[in-house]
Amino acid sequence: MSTHNVWTHKGTFLLAAVGSAVGLGNLWRFPYLTGENGGGAFILIYALTIFAVGIPILIAEIMLGRNSRCSPIMGMRFLTRTHQTSRSWESIGWLGAASAFLILSFYSVIAGWAIHYTGLMFTGALIDVDAAGVGQSFDALLASPGLLTLYHTLFIAASALIVGLGIHKGIEAGLRVLMPSLFVILLVVLSYGAIIGDLGAAASFLFTFNLADLSLEGWLQAMGQSFFTLSLGMGAIMAYGAYMPGEASLTRTAFSIAVVDTAVAMVAGLAIFSLVFGAGLDPGEGPGLMFVTLPLAFAEMPGGALVGGAFFILVLGAAISSSISLIEPVAAFLVERFDMTRPQAVAIMVIASWALGLLTVLSFNLWAEGTLFHTLFGRSPFAFIELLTNIFMPLGGLLIALFAGWALTHAEVMKEMRTNERWFRIWRFLVRFVAPAAVAFVFLRSIPQVEGYLIPAIGAVVIVGAFAAGRTFLADDSQEL
Ligand code: PFF
Repeated sequence: MSTHNVWTHKGTFLLAAVGSAVGLGNLWRFPYLTGENGGGAFILIYALTIFAVGIPILIAEIMLGRNSRCSPIMGMRFLTRTHQTSRSWESIGWLGAASAFLILSFYSVIAGWAIHYTGLMFTGALIDVDAAGVGQSFDALLASPGLLTLYHTLFIAASALIVGLGIHKGIEAGLRVLMPSLFVILLVVLSYGAIIGDLGAAASFLFTFNLADLSLEGWLQAMGQSFFTLSLGMGAIMAYGAYMPGEASLTRTAFSIAVVDTAVAMVAGLAIFSLVFGAGLDPGEGPGLMFVTLPLAFAEMPGGALVGGAFFILVLGAAISSSISLIEPVAAFLVERFDMTRPQAVAIMVIASWALGLLTVLSFNLWAEGTLFHTLFGRSPFAFIELLTNIFMPLGGLLIALFAGWALTHAEVMKEMRTNERWFRIWRFLVRFVAPAAVAFVFLRSIPQVEGYLIPAIGAVVIVGAFAAGRTFLADDSQEL
């Protein structure tokens, strides 16, 4: 059942996991959410969640991957057998595969916008265009199903090519070139922002903590973002973990992933807000921050076309290193389960996800409103797919935390973590109680119908139910210390 693949070097897992973690979540979503939620207070909650919930689940997810040495679905099947637990825990793998498939479908469409903006920047098409003009140019892009489909196709095909070449010749080789180049570009953009823009205003916006600025919605968004940015609950990290050599330290690696990912988000935030404040623009623009406000800032600044072009190449590279991690878990499953060749497996995953992505394309134009879909589901297909992933992702994280926290034995965890008893206990407390409670909260809040007073009540029921299920389904040795 095992794929027997192992990364060439001890450090490659770190490279791959950072590649997966650093993406649109850091460069596009983090800055705009911070901008919308008043800056520092949002970052404080985000950082706290990364360390108290994100890292423990990250450790759990890598552990499940390395322990089973298979794709998430086959890996969970293997673990439920070896731990004599209910087969329903296999749903961790299926949820992950479903989320990866759904996320890839819209991630690729949005990443495709960056192809368009790379062209607009390098050709200087936006120079001397005013705010209304830059906004109109974004609207015109969204209004064109043909253009959106073209970019979506290009982006997903490039990702498929990398994964199709295999974990060594494709993913490893690709990341070795991509990741260092991305860090160089990020530093160039930061330096440019510091020289031309207003770094002081950006820093005080990001690092002045005033908890009163933060709404409950902001709290929840900060927690949701910390999951998305670390690629948690989707099998991506589990699939990469399956290729991790046994001797590499899991705890240290998980810390490094979280630190690098957070640092990239902060540096991107500093760079982007320096430019936005330098140009006297509004930080709270929402999703348009990267595609309207930032291009406008670049358009107004000397040398902006060149640095702006480099910036959008950075966005594309970061997105591609994440999208390959969405393809890998499903492709590896098809190879293991149906004995397909890797190119066949990748083609099936990517073509299906591409086709689904067409719904996202149409959601911005022909099907933006007034369709039968809207009548049935009350939102566009894109918003519906995003909502599904917002539910699946925390749910996957919750199950991963429960399984690793309750089913794996003390000896197994110690073998993977290679740490002392104190850290083990802290980790286990966090995955058994803190992470599930936090995730259940985010999860329930992401369902629009669950409002107000219902949240604490349902949250309590789910948490208690989950623990009861954990105890009932799991083997006796789960209680062993
Ligand atoms: N972590 C990626 C980002 O921040 O853009 C998004 C992502 C990639 C989420 C891969 C999940 C995943 F499996």
